[in-house]
This record gives sequence, structure tokens and C-alpha cells, in this order.
Amino acid sequence: MSKISAAITAVGAYVPDYVLTNQILETMVDTNDEWITTRTGIKERRILKGEGKGTSYLAIKAAQDLINKKGLNPEDIELVIVATATPDMKAASTASYTASQIGAINAFTFDMDAACSSFLYGMSVAASYIESGRYKNVLLIGADKMSSIINYKDRATCIIFGDGAGAVLFEPNEEGLGLQDEYLRSDGSGREFLQATYGGSSFPVTEEAMAKGGQYAFQEGRTVFKNAVFNMADATVKILDRNGLDKDSVDWLAAHQANKRIIDATAERINLDPAKVMMNIQKYGNTTSATLPLLLNDYESQLKKGDNVIFAAFGGGFNWGAIYLKWAYNS
Ligand code: UT7
Repeated sequence: MSKISAAITAVGAYVPDYVLTNQILETMVDTNDEWITTRTGIKERRILKGEGKGTSYLAIKAAQDLINKKGLNPEDIELVIVATATPDMKAASTASYTASQIGAINAFTFDMDAACSSFLYGMSVAASYIESGRYKNVLLIGADKMSSIINYKDRATCIIFGDGAGAVLFEPNEEGLGLQDEYLRSDGSGREFLQATYGGSSFPVTEEAMAKGGQYAFQEGRTVFKNAVFNMADATVKILDRNGLDKDSVDWLAAHQANKRIIDATAERINLDPAKVMMNIQKYGNTTSATLPLLLNDYESQLKKGDNVIFAAFGGGFNWGAIYLKWAYNS
């Protein structure tokens, strides 16, 4: 019997309707369209409005999009993973609620958080369950309502992040398609440079902390930028070398959309033709766990069976890495 690999067989996505443009941000903080565009590549981002709507709202919509496109019976889904840095609440997983709402009544569920690398790590987890032969239908959703932890008075963060969700289905493949290799790393000494501090067990939410804006995400942008450029490019080079790939045999780079300059630097390091670099940061900004599946959704019609896709991400933790996957279908 041939080895079972884990292939992505369907994609779905959802972004909220409200568009927060650079021009609107100019009226909120001391910034301008030219600065944001040249430093980040971002023109607009989507924001989820409406009281009580959290990350599960985005995750459910993305999952339903996938279910409708694929014609999938939700009762056949065996595992639902929600990759997110902004769960609905501290306890009671967002994945459990999402699964119930989409009718995945036969699934077990859990959330996983590795900040901006949540979806990348989630691919590794989802694929492992398939490769082991234990499950045949694993739904991986990357969803974040970043606007829930952003201070819209802090120009260093509010220009970058947006809300959104994307979903992929992993199924077994016997043609050798799907996930081929991964290089994943972490360095906890980096956490001081990018964090949403309060609300965790070491830093309970107090009135004093809230008064200082402790509930919001903070980053030392320049340090994070330098580490992201080095590590995303390094992981990408390592995964290429290890698999005998070069700029010609790579068909697509799907890199975490945190800053266009970081993505460009990664592509330049491997001399990749810019036409092979997936890019939608201009429309959505950094949606944390949703950037990679949103890219797949936007580029799905261009992806061909057998294409060599390199995924790369870097984020808070620090967590980073690269994954090599062979695309499994023509849409
Ligand atoms: O996804 C998770 C990982 N996150 C990332 O990968 C983000 C990595 N970091 C970045 O993308 C960039 O560091 C930023 C986009 C956040 C900032 O860009 P930068 O080129 O590193 O700018 P900087 O922080 O070094 O700031 C340069 C100047 C500063 O002014 P002075 O000190 O030179 O006078 C800032 O105060 O730009 C100023 N500045 C702004 N000006 C206009 C910072 N934010 C803004 C702003 N508009 N929004």
C-alpha cells in the first residue's frame, strides 16, 4: 500500500464587509496613506462590527463557505481545529462552538495558538492526524478578530491588523500530493517584543492594567521586523535545500501577510519571480491566523494539481517556519 499523505482538498473564506481604509485611519491617528503604503503595502483592512460577534462568527462563515463549495456533509468532519490568537473567550474553545454551529456533530475540536504562525503550525497538526491514518476529514480554520485587541489610538499597530478567516479541508492522498515537509521553530525569548499581555494567568486583567491599555496588543515593530525577515527567509531556504527545490521548481510562495517588505525579502532571498508570490496584504492587512488560507482562497483558481507551494510564517512567541506542500486539485 502506498504511503498516505495529507492533502488540502477544499478552501473557504470570509472577511467582514466593513472596509477600514488608510484614508479613514488618517482621521484617527497621526499617519498617512503614503507612510502606510510604502512601509507595509497595506491599503485597507476588514473589521468585524456588531456587538457580541467574535472570532467564531468569522470561523463559522469561512467553514460554511468551504462546506458549500465542496458539497461536504458536515457530519463527515471528524476534527475541527481553530487556529487563533483571539478566541471568543478564555475558556470554552472557539472550535467547539464553531463545530456545533456548522453541524459538525461527529467531530472533536480544539483551538490552537501560535500567534501569526497558528495556521502554519495547524497545518502540521492537521496533516499528522491524516498521515497517521486515524482520521480522514480534518477541518483547519484560521480566524482572528484582531480588532478586539487593537488600540485604535496606537499608530504602530492599528494600521497593520485586520479581521478575517479562512478554512481548509485535509484528506488522505495516495498519489503523493499534499504536505511533503516542514521546518518549524520557536524562540520564547522573543515574546517581550510582541504580545497581548493582560488576560493571561501571569497578568490578570485589573482595572489598573485596563487603564494603561493592557488589554491591547503591543509590538516593538523594528525588532519584530528584523527577526521576521531573517527567520522567514532562513526557513524558506532550508525547506527548499532539504527538498532539492529551487526558484524554478517552486510554483508559489504563500507567506504570512504581515508586511509586504518582509514577503519581498523572503522572495528575493530565493530569487523567486514576483509573479509566483501570493499577495493580498493590500486588501486585508495582517489577519494573523487567517493570512495563509485567505491567500489560498484568492489564488485557488490559479493553483494547479501538482504545484509546489511553499508556506512561510513568522510571529509572536517568536514562532516561525516553512512548509512544503504539493497542491492536490484543479478548481
Ligand atoms: O505578524 C506578526 C509579526 N509582525 C510583523 O511582522 C510586523 C513587523 N514590523 C513591521 O512591519 C514594521 O516594523 C512596522 C510597519 C510596524 C513599522 O515600520 P518601520 O519601518 O519599522 O518603522 P519604525 O517603527 O522604525 O518607525 C519609523 C518612524 C518612527 O518615527 P521616528 O522615531 O523615526 O521619528 C515612528 O514613530 O515612523 C513612525 N511611525 C509612523 N509614522 C506614520 C510609526 N508608525 C507610524 C504610522 N504613521 N502609522
